[in-house]
Amino acid sequence: MGSSTIGILGTGSYAPEKILTNADLSAIVDTSDEWIFTRTGIRERHIAGDNETTSLMAAAAGRAALVDAGLTPADIDLIIVATMTPDHPMPATACFVQNHLGVSSHAACFDLNAACSGFLYALDTAWAMLGSGRYRHALVIGAEKMSTVLDWTDRTTCVLFGDGAGAVVLGPSRGTAEILGAKLYAEGTHARLLWIPNGGSNAPVPAPGTHFPPRTLTMKGREIFKIAVREMEDAAREILEQHQMSAANIACVIPHQANLRIIDVIAQSLELPLERFFVNLERYGNTSAASIPLALDEARRSGRIKPGDTTLFVAFGAGLTYGSALVRW
Ligand code: ACO
Repeated sequence: MGSSTIGILGTGSYAPEKILTNADLSAIVDTSDEWIFTRTGIRERHIAGDNETTSLMAAAAGRAALVDAGLTPADIDLIIVATMTPDHPMPATACFVQNHLGVSSHAACFDLNAACSGFLYALDTAWAMLGSGRYRHALVIGAEKMSTVLDWTDRTTCVLFGDGAGAVVLGPSRGTAEILGAKLYAEGTHARLLWIPNGGSNAPVPAPGTHFPPRTLTMKGREIFKIAVREMEDAAREILEQHQMSAANIACVIPHQANLRIIDVIAQSLELPLERFFVNLERYGNTSAASIPLALDEARRSGRIKPGDTTLFVAFGAGLTYGSALVRW
């Protein structure tokens, strides 16, 4: 358990200007707005420009979160970037973010890869590190340039994802937005249901003069759907039980924004109206680790979260990883 006195002091997000609609996609692959919307709830997604790196998007979200928290880069002594699309295999994207923001060399900076559950993994990690008393203010960022790992000829995956970033500043609680709990899980037996087979050290290095095989994501969508529903439901129920709460105590659920049908099934199984869930995937698609902090920032700025509300975050992703967290605002 981490300290109970750590809170979310500010939130921020960033989405690239360029928008790719379902109609645009139907000119690239054999699909339609009707198919994508009815199967997923997605209408459009943001796509980063060539020079718009994961670290630049992460820094933009982080900067906004710092302003919201009333802090400066000098206050930050820990940066964790949750991403499965780092700028480079090394060094960590968090080091580029540190440089973009002008955070001091006294800050620890590292990346964390738990795919779409990455933000919750990073949040729990930062919470524990701050709870140890050895760090004071953390920037916890989920940022993804998913457009660079998609096979744009595969209609079963390229229609689902988008680019963007979301960030929170964690620090000593100011009496609000306290993290009450977090719980992380993984089922490595399903590691190859959703993965990028190439580009890592387990892929053979091509002979000189030949090209690297494409580093693109492959997924067994139907299997993932079933497991995701079970995992997210389990993660939600377990954290509620741990804190002697029922779903009815939750003012707002911020789920990983992968598919509206998945969210709908979870709402039904938790016996909550869909309106209790904050959903923005219609405009962003699945932005992986960015999805929860991006939705959280929108929910806060639109007044959807009120002082005293308890929010539940719940996510699943490649690994298969999953997890949940509770915050009282
Ligand atoms: N446009 C038109 N037709 C399509 C498309 C498309 N974009 N994609 C698939 N189809 C076709 C299929 O070929 C299939 O045709 P067939 O019946 O002739 O074979 C038909 O549509 C149905 O395909 P299914 O895969 O059964 O469709 P399903 O209803 O399961 O929806 C989907 C697919 C949306 C991918 C769903 O399974 C899903 O959302 N799964 C979860 C995936 C997910 O969330 N992944 C992200 C994980 S998070 C992370 O860590 C990255």
